[in-house]
Amino acid sequence: MTEQAHPLATIPQDELVARAEADSLRPRFHFVSPAGWLNDPNGVSQWNGIYHLFYQYNPEGAFHHRIQWGHATSTDLVTWTDQPIALEPSAGPDAEGCWSGVLVNDGGTPTLVYSGRFEGKELPCVAVGSPDLLSWTKVSENPVISAPPAGVDTTAYRDHCVWREGTKWRQLVGSGIRQRGGTAFLYESPDLRSWDYLGPLFIGDASHGDPADNDWTGTMWECVDLFRAGQGSLGSAPSDSSPDVLVFSAWDDGDTRHPLYWTGRYAGDTFEPTALHRLDYGGRFFYAPQSFQDESGRRVMFGWMQEGRSDAAMVEAGWSGVMSLPRTVTVADDGTLRFAPVPEIEKLRRDHASLPGQIVADASIPLDIGLSGTELDLELELQLAPGARLRLGVLGSTDRGAFDIPHEETTIELVRALQGDNNGTLRLDRTRSSLDPTVDVEDKSGPVPMPEGRVHLRVILDRSAIEIFANGIPLTARAYPTLGGGNISLSAEGTAEILSLEAWTMAEIFADTRCLFPPMPGSPTQVG
Ligand code: FRU
Repeated sequence: MTEQAHPLATIPQDELVARAEADSLRPRFHFVSPAGWLNDPNGVSQWNGIYHLFYQYNPEGAFHHRIQWGHATSTDLVTWTDQPIALEPSAGPDAEGCWSGVLVNDGGTPTLVYSGRFEGKELPCVAVGSPDLLSWTKVSENPVISAPPAGVDTTAYRDHCVWREGTKWRQLVGSGIRQRGGTAFLYESPDLRSWDYLGPLFIGDASHGDPADNDWTGTMWECVDLFRAGQGSLGSAPSDSSPDVLVFSAWDDGDTRHPLYWTGRYAGDTFEPTALHRLDYGGRFFYAPQSFQDESGRRVMFGWMQEGRSDAAMVEAGWSGVMSLPRTVTVADDGTLRFAPVPEIEKLRRDHASLPGQIVADASIPLDIGLSGTELDLELELQLAPGARLRLGVLGSTDRGAFDIPHEETTIELVRALQGDNNGTLRLDRTRSSLDPTVDVEDKSGPVPMPEGRVHLRVILDRSAIEIFANGIPLTARAYPTLGGGNISLSAEGTAEILSLEAWTMAEIFADTRCLFPPMPGSPTQVG
């Protein structure tokens, strides 16, 4: 089928990969698409030992259009091998795009449940895979659900969470009910092809809170992900206090707001919520997360790190969108979630430097640890006095101090509350991150538990991609420095003790030139 080039496809496809690779802001150890556009993680899974990451992909250019499923595999969650495109729009219910979905094991047959887009709307579709998960065949029954629930005025209807419960399959489809709020519709099926509608699992209240709030639940829930955190599986009697968790991305009229999660209990055909939480303080910079349980029993989550630059700048750069590092999901004693990059990422650590323990009190120190850079892994153990504020500057340009020389720095700030031993705040200040006035520099912050002032801070920098974890609470964002600086600095108001600081440079994960349309393994390489 010959498609007419999209008006935004201004860069010839044979130049797109080279253009993307030449961008000094493109991450080197996060997964990115070969070039063009990437958004949500899809079908995240481990199958016969191999990890699979599918993703929303437009190889035509760095804009969202005629979305396909890109595919990459890994044996270690660190390095990835590009595989052929898994799903591509074709005449029928996904003619305008193969939108987000999941992978399930149907009695040994890898099976994708995804949203086919046609005439501006999405409906559930299914495709079955070859044993190596590299070739996919759409089933003749598509769309497997022919319309959203009758008589319900929906704001949108798409994205899937599918699991096995007893002898049946269950499915959630993300949606929203106009004048009420976001929701997930629950279905049941014997065979993944014919589905009975059971009702809304749970309905949010969009009139609750200010739409500007960073925990507003939106008018539609994208990419719903329901799982039992900790021990046990969905629907089984809980063996401990492990909550069930309903993750969703709050959306409003085309605006991708932020990922949130409800803790509570899923039983029968409903979800009884206990509390609502922000999943990542970076908001839209960790959007549409999807998780799976790997063969070792860990829950692993990926999210889409959107861009903070203009649509035109993305198109010009030839690429858009970063996949977060895979992060483990665990439950803290208070029943809320904690996150950490999977330990496998440490394999990428190369040059190492550390700072002997020291106290920083009302001072600013450039950190001469003999290591700087834009691709780093930093790990700090900190002890803050009540009321203390510690600032860690990263991606700093070299000419700091000379007032007539433009300076860039991205600042991670930790503040311990004056009162109450256990509370503090994590903040990312990007106001001086970039001399480019067009990029997003919105303040990002949120509360962090700090028992007795202790903080374990992990900061992963990969050029424009930043992942921060403070006592397991994540803040993910993007920054676009123009000067290419990699300096690190520390400053404190009040007293902060650096118990330890370790830093590593990080290796790159893609050695070879990537291919926009990766060939089947063993077949001759295609050009472009
Ligand atoms: C979330 C999302 C999904 C949709 C997909 C389309 O970012 O909007 O709801 O399926 O992206 O690419």
